[in-house]
Amino acid sequence: MSTTFQLDTATSRANPTPAPMKRLTVPKVMQRKKDGVTEEPLVMLTAYTARMAQLLDPHCDILLVGDSLGQVIYGLPSTLPVTLDMMAAHGAAVVRGSYHSLVVIDMPFGSYEASPQQAFESASRIMAETGAAAVKLEGGVAMAETISFLSQRGIPVMGHVGLTPQAVNALGGYMARGRSEAEEARIVADGKAAADAGAFAVVIEGVVEDIAIALTEQLSIPTIGIGGSARCDGQVLVAEDMLGMFERTPRFVKRYNDIASVISDTAAEYAADVRSRRFPGDEQVYKAK
Ligand code: KIV
Repeated sequence: MSTTFQLDTATSRANPTPAPMKRLTVPKVMQRKKDGVTEEPLVMLTAYTARMAQLLDPHCDILLVGDSLGQVIYGLPSTLPVTLDMMAAHGAAVVRGSYHSLVVIDMPFGSYEASPQQAFESASRIMAETGAAAVKLEGGVAMAETISFLSQRGIPVMGHVGLTPQAVNALGGYMARGRSEAEEARIVADGKAAADAGAFAVVIEGVVEDIAIALTEQLSIPTIGIGGSARCDGQVLVAEDMLGMFERTPRFVKRYNDIASVISDTAAEYAADVRSRRFPGDEQVYKAK
């Protein structure tokens, strides 16, 4: 099979190599929030492949290898069937395709909840096999002991509170969270617990805006919103959502393009060329010397 990538054997990374850049580190990301204020919001997008990482990397601070790859790449109905093998393979591809962004990898469902020891085994495997610098896991109060265990053993952890998709069966769906006082209190407690346990940042997903603002003001670590608030310290979206790869977009997604139509129209043009023998043309065939 031919490839459009050249392999840089010195770094095992796919070329073309952009202008040399230093990769952002966890401490550098944390330092973006000073005395409770983040002047320049953190830019985070998901990436699952080396080529997408190459394209997004120059524009991002953080690339998240999200377990959303279950739906986006594998067509699964939820994130629940995603495995450590999948996360390790896609995580390694994203690290190979990026130079600048901090790469964070989601811990898949079932790989960390049983105990801090189980989480350490899974997270250390992810980090060793991918070269990524951090992992993300869902949960606050219930995961505080695990976040602390990993953080103290050299594994930076990004927390994830509010709408936590791995808990879809317990939550009853993907609707916004925090509409009752009790739920609001739980989400705030989760955010604080993650931060107190040593998380270096926390994703706040799908919550009533006031909760995202309150947590951003109360936590000294950066908050990254998705369906949160523009006042969070950063924002994340699934790249395919904001590129317009899907017809259906949730309320919190801004669709910046319509890549689905570009792909469909281009495939139709190619199919018509093949069927009418316009492709390959003279420029695409080899002639005898
Ligand atoms: O899996 C994912 O893509 C995520 C983001 C949506 C935050 O967790």
